[in-house]
Amino acid sequence: MDYKKIISETINIDGVTKEEIEASITLPKDLSLGDFALPCFRFAKALHKAPNMIAEDLAKLDYKGAFEKVEAVNGYLNFKVDKKAQAKQVIEEILQKKEAYGKSDIGKGKTVCIDFSSVNIAKPFHMGHMLNTSIGSALYKIYKELGYNAIGINHLGDWGTQFGKLIVAYKKWGDKKDIEERGVRGLLDIYVKFHKEAEEHPELDDEARHWFKQIEDGNKEALDLFYWFKDITLKEVDKIYKRLDVTFDSYAGESFYNDKMEPVVKELEEKHLLTDSEGAKVVMFDDPKMPPCIIKKSDGATLYATRDLAAAFYRKKTYDFYKCLYVVAYQQNLHFKQWFKVVEMMGYDWYKDLYHVAHGMVSLENGALSTRDGNVVFLEDVLNTCVAKARRVIEEKNPNLENKDLVAEQVGVGAVIFAMLYNSRIKDITFSEDKVLSFEGETGPYVQYTYARCNSLLEKCGEIVGDIDYSGIDNESAAEVIRTLSKYQDVLIDASERFEPYLVTRYVVELAQGFNKFYFDCNIANAEQGIKNARLQLTMAVKQVLKNALKLLGIQTPNKM
Ligand code: ARG
Repeated sequence: MDYKKIISETINIDGVTKEEIEASITLPKDLSLGDFALPCFRFAKALHKAPNMIAEDLAKLDYKGAFEKVEAVNGYLNFKVDKKAQAKQVIEEILQKKEAYGKSDIGKGKTVCIDFSSVNIAKPFHMGHMLNTSIGSALYKIYKELGYNAIGINHLGDWGTQFGKLIVAYKKWGDKKDIEERGVRGLLDIYVKFHKEAEEHPELDDEARHWFKQIEDGNKEALDLFYWFKDITLKEVDKIYKRLDVTFDSYAGESFYNDKMEPVVKELEEKHLLTDSEGAKVVMFDDPKMPPCIIKKSDGATLYATRDLAAAFYRKKTYDFYKCLYVVAYQQNLHFKQWFKVVEMMGYDWYKDLYHVAHGMVSLENGALSTRDGNVVFLEDVLNTCVAKARRVIEEKNPNLENKDLVAEQVGVGAVIFAMLYNSRIKDITFSEDKVLSFEGETGPYVQYTYARCNSLLEKCGEIVGDIDYSGIDNESAAEVIRTLSKYQDVLIDASERFEPYLVTRYVVELAQGFNKFYFDCNIANAEQGIKNARLQLTMAVKQVLKNALKLLGIQTPNKM
């Protein structure tokens, strides 16, 4: 039941639109006041009447029997929902729609490109990318759920002078077998060695430049090595994506734009936007605080920003996006600000549809994260440690559980994803394995455990037979759960509009906590049959919505744990 619609459709005020009325409706914090409230102050002018009198008049209207009570209090119109009718309607809708509950078609016909994860070839997949990948993938799934045509793009970092360095390092110290076995770790070792050696032998840098040029010029030996490095990295990251339930529609990375930058540079030139700066070509901005955006270096080489510009034009042409999101850490704020501005200066209105969805940084409670000195924590190791810890807890608490390894994987990985999506994305995260794996507090294991609790209760109590007596869920704690269930889709919409998957995570916590309160407040298993039926139905609905929401976050829901 769309209560806000019912309210706005019932009320007619000259000079105030239905949309304005609907937008004015609030959800009171104090539930004893009502479930919805309409402040009437803003209608006083249109009606030439005091707000409290308006509220009193409006209270007399017939709201299609949707409310138990409509009351005027101090200029507010307070609505109390008919709890039993609402409960029945919400539960029936969930149980009928099942995994489709929450889905919408508001995004129909709109394409949203989401550039996320965007890992770097021959570099470790570390915790920073984990945050990025979790946020991006959740947004991708939320948009799809709302009917948008979401395009997930992994803008691979597969271009730059570091590949020249890597070739030199490999040719000097590389061991094919070791790299085949140890993958990116092997590549990282020789890359770190290159940097150490180059400090004393700067001529190594010249060699690296030479080999990078060979890649650019299409030399077979250079290209073979380049593709080999790429292959090794992608095999490894794909394994991680599988574990995280992450997929992409495109892996067009930086190198994909090698032949797509010239037309953009030409257009910039034609529009007189390029300035010569010590041989380099740059775009200058009016804002004195904004440094120029370098388009071409003095040696003619293109840059990260040049590739992003070319990629944006390519995406606009290929996907005709409604929005194009870039899920990238806030360290790159300036980069995005600069090249978005360049698109604007080129005269393209769709610069407004480009969004830098900035996120914070991740640090580990017990160690720093830095790639430069090779002292980096691989995500794979973090996931494996968490899975091993989850496995030990299972062994301790539930040694007879079936599929222990699978459940440990679901719990361990789920815990890490949950921790990434728990806070507003801009916040920095200090990651602690013990904290994220705790069964108490707002964690992945806690919500998964609530799901398993729903499941075992339903298994224990069996089928619903006979009549359903909705007075079984006519109490405060059940009402709270139903209210939470009913707003699920609004939360998804809010999350999509604000690019904030944590709203869904917090929602899941609210639902789990609400259910657990209901579970302890109300006897379910031993209640009289009709009442028990209503409570079991509510449990089924909670189980379904927990599953639907967690799926969007990439978190699995084991039936037992
Ligand atoms: N590979 C880059 C990095 O790890 C992120 C790329 C983000 N996407 C983009 N279109 N610039 O820093």
